[in-house]
Amino acid sequence: MADALAIAILAAGKGTRMRSALPKVLHRLSGLTLVENVIASTALVVPTRKIVIVGYEAEQVKSALTHIPDLEFVEQRQQLGTGHAVQQVIPALAGFTGNLLVLNGDVPLLRPETVERMLQTHHDNNNAATILTAQMEDPTGYGRVFTDDNLVVKEIIEHRDCTLAQRENHRTNAGIYCFRWSALMDVLPYLKADNDQSEYYLTDVIKDLAPVMAMDTAPAEVAGINNRKQLSAAEVVMQNRIKDELMLSGITLINADSITIDATVTVEPDVIIEPQTHLRGNCVIKSGCHIGPGALIENSTIGENTRLVHSVVSDSAVAAGGRIGPFAHIRGQAHVGENCRIGNFVEVKKSTIGNNTNAAHLSYLGDAELGEQVNVGAGTITVNYDGRNKHKTVIGDRTKTGANSCLVAPITIGADTTIGAGSVLTKDVEGDCLVFARSPQKSIPGWKPKYLRDE
Ligand code: UD1
Ligand code: CA
Repeated sequence: MADALAIAILAAGKGTRMRSALPKVLHRLSGLTLVENVIASTALVVPTRKIVIVGYEAEQVKSALTHIPDLEFVEQRQQLGTGHAVQQVIPALAGFTGNLLVLNGDVPLLRPETVERMLQTHHDNNNAATILTAQMEDPTGYGRVFTDDNLVVKEIIEHRDCTLAQRENHRTNAGIYCFRWSALMDVLPYLKADNDQSEYYLTDVIKDLAPVMAMDTAPAEVAGINNRKQLSAAEVVMQNRIKDELMLSGITLINADSITIDATVTVEPDVIIEPQTHLRGNCVIKSGCHIGPGALIENSTIGENTRLVHSVVSDSAVAAGGRIGPFAHIRGQAHVGENCRIGNFVEVKKSTIGNNTNAAHLSYLGDAELGEQVNVGAGTITVNYDGRNKHKTVIGDRTKTGANSCLVAPITIGADTTIGAGSVLTKDVEGDCLVFARSPQKSIPGWKPKYLRDE
């Protein structure tokens, strides 16, 4: 398959039926935008050019794709239809010889293997065009593909332009096409907008090309997303795919239906995930972890054999052997060392916690640096914010903070220190000492409230 390949992704439409200010192709499915999902479906082919056709909120769409290398953008200033969209790549592909793979930006469930198989079919049959099709149970809204018995395509007619009899044909157009570029160039520039929507339909080129073949695939793969009901149905399909793959790779999911996992998450073997757990963004869950019930983990790494229950972790890392929760909130580039215990009811923000350190109850650790084997007493608060700026708290190895102590930052407490319960510390402490700062206890014998004294 030596033919050169260019890819064009149609992503210029507003997506009116989404009823959203966000361009349709930027709505998310299992953590990736629709258009990122479409780009992911081309993972097994090797194009020389990758062109995204943008229009509605073009800058927003472009900036959502800056992390993907080698993309070219072509602007379709007015959205006059899918055929008009592909016409916009003509100048960019001047002199190109080879095939053009066109993908609708709103068909996110397509599998890379299917795209590969389609290109192979195209090549093997020396087709002018090969189009991906599916026999859909409910084909409402899709273009219908009319073929002979050998899957040679005669024409595609949009649902709204079909007669009632034509609607009985359930072979639908997926919006995924491979064209021999030279053949497409014979017809693409001459499209007419003589249809119900007065748009330039890409599908209209088909009747003027030969040979054109349909290749059927599973209906679930080619679902187009036009509204939020379809987005929700596609999410179910994508989630099942992701979770099936994880379970087969050695991960236990308990009540899998209540768990959601983004496509961008890595889970190592021998992890147990309990109900109501949600893993989002760039997460890595290392082997032997037991997560949930009730966890939200976003853009974070959880080290081996960590037990985490009813907690939220975002943009942070927990090293191996952690015991997290119930009800811990670890966030904002926090780094928790090995074998630490965090929670019940402990918030850790932008702090580094040394190995074997425990903060087991009711604490706030913000902008702090804790050494190893520190014991954070119940109710310890790092007072990090003066109303304008955030300040740092440093606590040395093996120090024990007393229950209900306030450490007013900036402050450094040395190693091997014991802080008396209820202390409000405002000054640095050298270390290797007992420190307390609280009003002495007093008893006043025989004291009664004023109203009793007046009687
Ligand atoms: C299209 C097909 C239909 C097919 C269906 C599959 C046409 C005429 N119809 O219909 O046969 O069954 O997809 O999902 O092609 N876009 C642009 N510029 C435009 C118009 C659309 O870039 O001017 C983009 C949209 O952003 C979208 C894609 O093209 O990603 C498809 O457009 P959409 O309006 O959703 O087409 P459908 O009506 O679904
Ligand atoms: Ca569509």
